[in-house]
Amino acid sequence: MATAEWLDALPIFSAPLVRNFLEQGSVNDRFFSLLSFIHLGVPLGAFAIIWIHTQRVPQAKTSPPKIVTIWLILSMVALSLIQPALSQGHADLDSAPFVLNLDWFYLWSYPLLYSWSPANVWILIGGVTGFFLLLPFLGGAKRGKGEYEITTTPAGHTVMAKNGETILEASLRHGLNLPYVCRDGACGACKGKVLRGTVDYGIYQKSALTDAEKEQGNALFCCAKPLSDLQVECHEVNESGRFPVKIMKFCVQKMERAAQDVMLLELRPEGDEQMDFVAGQYIAVHLDDGTKRSYSIANAPHESDCLQLHVRLVKGGKFTGHVFNEMRVGDILQAEGPLGTFFLHEESDKPIIFMSGGCGFGSVKGMVEHALKIGLNRPMTLYWGARIPEDFYLAKLPENWQREHKNFKFIPVLSEPKPEHGWQGRTGLVHEAILQDYQTLNNYQVYACGSPEMVEAGRAPFMAKGLPEDQYFADKISVACHIAPAMEAPVSSEGAKHD
Ligand SMILES: Cc1cc2nc3c(=O)[nH]c(=O)nc-3n(C[C@H](O)[C@H](O)[C@H](O)COP(=O)(O)OP(=O)(O)OC[C@H]3O[C@@H](n4cnc5c(N)ncnc54)[C@H](O)[C@@H]3O)c2cc1C
Ligand code: FES
Repeated sequence: MATAEWLDALPIFSAPLVRNFLEQGSVNDRFFSLLSFIHLGVPLGAFAIIWIHTQRVPQAKTSPPKIVTIWLILSMVALSLIQPALSQGHADLDSAPFVLNLDWFYLWSYPLLYSWSPANVWILIGGVTGFFLLLPFLGGAKRGKGEYEITTTPAGHTVMAKNGETILEASLRHGLNLPYVCRDGACGACKGKVLRGTVDYGIYQKSALTDAEKEQGNALFCCAKPLSDLQVECHEVNESGRFPVKIMKFCVQKMERAAQDVMLLELRPEGDEQMDFVAGQYIAVHLDDGTKRSYSIANAPHESDCLQLHVRLVKGGKFTGHVFNEMRVGDILQAEGPLGTFFLHEESDKPIIFMSGGCGFGSVKGMVEHALKIGLNRPMTLYWGARIPEDFYLAKLPENWQREHKNFKFIPVLSEPKPEHGWQGRTGLVHEAILQDYQTLNNYQVYACGSPEMVEAGRAPFMAKGLPEDQYFADKISVACHIAPAMEAPVSSEGAKHD
């Protein structure tokens, strides 16, 4: 009746609703069914619509975090004990209630109808509802078209992505240190979960993100663009990899053929500006056609003001073909860097296993030289995988490290030795050699740099031997997506098989 009186304050009904409650005869079965429908049918219908909606939104979160739920329940129980709701007094089955008090807790607006006026209560309820509706638009920064908010879990950082920006680009622009290597949908280093919201997955290679992983809510943050506000799960890496990314011109200072198909390049920055980097990072060389090629920096930061690159000739390759056939000392290159989050985690005291394949030795070289320079005394073992002995294009170097440093061990592993090679050393795939040598990897860190196949071949068996997932650091020397843009783009080819 109170509701009817309140609704009657609106000028929308031709006759007062409250009339329906005045005589006993008007509260008939039909009217009672109508009230039941309004009280039960409408909420059930709304519930069904909400349910269908949440089923269609991927990863919809409908419950508050567990800790909030627990505290809510506990505080409700505590409140009910401290201040029980006794608006109707204690239940008495022997008497019929003739006076029903309005409950200030559940129906707080109803008593106001009689102390104020129905019109004022409408103004109050309308104002409060309007305020809550406007709340998301109040106070926040003004958004441009196509801008979305990205919140990271567990760190809880929030950044704004510009129209067309990937999750990684937006995060890096705001100084968040998300892991990445190729920035091209090829290596999988930037993979993370989209917990809430929708994304455009972009162009990527299926080996970097399988359909099953996508089904589970994963995306490659270097390719995925937000289509709504997002909550993503990712593990930000520590600060040590954070140097500003610059686009700079370099002069080719030195070119040295280390093997039939490996060129060692030394690039000196043009002008006074230097490129600061952390050992293990890489640069992307800009080509005339607007594409880029990535190369690991093969020296440690302390060594010189030059960047060393180890470039392996790829058959039919645009840039590597240029390096081997046309490039001359004195040529100028444009490159951007430092890039990537593959670097030594110096804060740990765990023994280190380096696994490198082919030119993946370059970034490992930089890391080992840095580790030796700072006097890191953790045991370090380098497994270098190759097909034939000539592929160990700088074998003397790790042999010297082994001779000069007690905590360093070098194990070259050949996958395809021929009798004429006279190879006396280890054979097989490089990750298999590691598995043979270690009973357990519980207390190790593994740094893998080489072809995607090599890096992935080691992942599952190393974890099976107890290597914690977050102690496997990988840098995949992958083929860029611009070369094979289809989602099914193949990653492997003859030249990519380093071990
Ligand atoms: C993070 C990162 C670090 C890298 N570091 C190094 C490094 O230190 N030294 C190095 O030599 N390379 C490295 N690469 C690979 C490098 O970026 C180029 O992809 C490679 O040198 C080929 O360039 P290209 O222009 O000669 O060949 P493209 O003209 O780009 O390709 C020509 C053909 O070769 C195939 N191809 C391209 N790249 C490869 C490859 N790596 N393996 C097998 N087939 C390929 C392509 O599918 C294409 O069919 C790295 C890649 C990444 C993502
Ligand atoms: S950084 Fe995203 S796939 Fe390599």
